[in-house]
Amino acid sequence: MSVPPVHHYMAGEVIFKEGDTGNLMYVILEGEIEILKSVAGSHKTLSVLRKGEFFGEMSLLDDSPRSATAMCSKEAKLLVMSDDQLDAYISSNPDFAVKMIRNLARRLRGANKLIEQALAGNSTRAVFEGLAEYAREKGLETIKGWRVSVPAFSIWAGQHLGIPEKNIPAILQTLLERGFIVTSAMGEQEVIYPNTQGN
Ligand code: CMP
Repeated sequence: MSVPPVHHYMAGEVIFKEGDTGNLMYVILEGEIEILKSVAGSHKTLSVLRKGEFFGEMSLLDDSPRSATAMCSKEAKLLVMSDDQLDAYISSNPDFAVKMIRNLARRLRGANKLIEQALAGNSTRAVFEGLAEYAREKGLETIKGWRVSVPAFSIWAGQHLGIPEKNIPAILQTLLERGFIVTSAMGEQEVIYPNTQGN
């Protein structure tokens, strides 16, 4: 097997961009690499990888374009491996293959966490927006805002927002903790959707 070359990168240099065709993978010998994904027009950091970790393997394994952008965030020395070198290395070094599989499992777990957070965020926003509509239509208007019955709103939200009725109280609790809505003197059975416009 030929010896893989070592490439140097300065902080800020892009190694490859999301969507590029990829035929090389990289092992970090020194430095730091940031993995970024373009989401709704801006770049979000998925991970910061350091010495001993690798990246760019996915395009080689499934023959697809780069799933994310790799940018050097701290001056780096990278071992660069071609498709053939990776195949040869995996065949002759089962420990490396196991490490790679473990790494992929860890990344998948991290990605699931991000999906979970994004879905939870969407539900919270949907409940807040639904509550605004419900409070004005069915709430009881007071000086502080609209009083809304939690059980009644939960049934409405289950029917109108596609979020299970049983999950609504916990989401309302999140909105209370974040100060978007206010507790009522009635306790857990009621929340107040504040009247911020003063009408
Ligand atoms: P590839 O798709 O070839 O190019 C982008 C690389 O970023 C990808 O291979 C992985 O090596 C790496 N990568 C993609 N998603 C993640 C993630 N969620 N966490 C860490 N690294 C990732």
